[in-house]
Amino acid sequence: MNMKRRDFITSVAASGGSAYAAMVALGLMEQPAAARPTKFQLSKNARGTRVIILGAGLAGMASAYELNKAGYQCTLLEARPRAGGRCWTLRGGDQVTDTDGVTQTASFAKGQYFNPGPARIPQHHVTLDYCRELGVPLEAFTNLNRQAYFYNENAGPLSSQKVRARSATFDMYGYISELLAKAVNQSALDDTLSAEDKERLVSFLRSWGALNSNLQYTGSSRRGYDVQAQGAGTASGQFAPPYDLTSLLQLGFSPAGDFGYDQQMMMFQPVGGMDQIARAFERQVGKQIRFESKVEEIRKTTEGVRVVYRDRTGVERQIVGDYCICTIPLPVLATIPSDFSPQMQEAIASVAYAVTGKIGLQFSRRFWEEDEDLYGGITNTNQQITQIWYPSYGYGGRKGVIVGYYNFGNIAASVGNLTPADRQALALAQGGKIHSQYTTHFETAVSIYWSKIPYNLGGWASYTTSVREQYYPTLNQPDGNIYLAGEHLSYLTGWMAGALESARLVTSNINQRSA
Ligand code: ALA
Repeated sequence: MNMKRRDFITSVAASGGSAYAAMVALGLMEQPAAARPTKFQLSKNARGTRVIILGAGLAGMASAYELNKAGYQCTLLEARPRAGGRCWTLRGGDQVTDTDGVTQTASFAKGQYFNPGPARIPQHHVTLDYCRELGVPLEAFTNLNRQAYFYNENAGPLSSQKVRARSATFDMYGYISELLAKAVNQSALDDTLSAEDKERLVSFLRSWGALNSNLQYTGSSRRGYDVQAQGAGTASGQFAPPYDLTSLLQLGFSPAGDFGYDQQMMMFQPVGGMDQIARAFERQVGKQIRFESKVEEIRKTTEGVRVVYRDRTGVERQIVGDYCICTIPLPVLATIPSDFSPQMQEAIASVAYAVTGKIGLQFSRRFWEEDEDLYGGITNTNQQITQIWYPSYGYGGRKGVIVGYYNFGNIAASVGNLTPADRQALALAQGGKIHSQYTTHFETAVSIYWSKIPYNLGGWASYTTSVREQYYPTLNQPDGNIYLAGEHLSYLTGWMAGALESARLVTSNINQRSA
């Protein structure tokens, strides 16, 4: 740093007296991450410009909401009798019919619900800005709870045991620290670190890994107690000796539950179900939605666009507009006759969608809370159920709905291709190995396999690097006056924020072109 005191003072003055701003300007401090605009507003008023929006999910409704503010005249065509798309919550009485024609009716108790689609929101997503703007109350979603378990089968000495995430996590921290401290003391890092930094590292490892004065890991209260201390009285707690390292390695334990940027606490959910976000948008644009209107053709015209659809009475209708925003998921869009260019058609047909499914299981008693002190969070297992999510709402209540599986890829396909009754049996049998209380307290279930949900036919866009390179640019370009939008037109695929950011981008692009 080669700056004179006078230069610094001059810069502070130029920055309106803020030392912080001056330091940012001088490159001495990192700028905060590029902030999203606090208020999004299309710049030009385009009163009367007609926009046909295909799909009243979050991308479609957010597009209409933003365009309405700038005077556009929007019409949304929605194939379903409800808005929200994948932003969806199932409650008692709700029905789901899959592409095989199999119908399930949810019979969850009053106040209980299951989010079969989006179920958690990272704190840095624009979704929370819309919740603020539209008045959707939020509560914490517990994505990481070290009180939850790791349960793997056929995985060494710890197979088929309920290993607390807490114990395994801190044991691994301990062993890694011990090994690294050993390496430092055996001069393995002499070329990498100065003597002072080696000391600092060892000191860090002692604290990070809970090592003793001999730099050994022999367990710690961090990993939890076998016998809890009495809050009062005379019995102190006892913690069990650590698992051994080989067993943890054979178990395949990974403490990576919250390593992903978009999986770290804090995470949020709307109070009362994810569809509260959809409902908030619907309050703004609901009058413009034509429900049960199935798109049959998407055409380019000299003036703009023409869309043919079948209305709820079975009558074929058409609507013309200046622009079209098409948010139909690509596997569905690929089946709709259209005037898209050959490049666009190829791009639409080339993006794979995530194969994924979930089941909601209602229990008569919150045994995970009452018996296991487990409030929210996720248990991981190498069984087909993959995960169990404990609800982040209604703590301390009587009943509760847990996510009995959330799986992906081939596993999701093999489970999703079962009948709902067999999916339920599988979830109960596999989850029951972790929670024996399943047998006594299970009440009712609903399961979703996204590949078989009409108007979705998949979870979310799942780009490979080459598909992203080859097709994403085409999908992002308007084809005539038709723009595609949705989570699939974003780098936040599989997140509601992807749909919302895409809506902002596409409405901005249309606004640029509007007179
Ligand atoms: N965003 C999705 C999730 O949270 C994929 O699981």
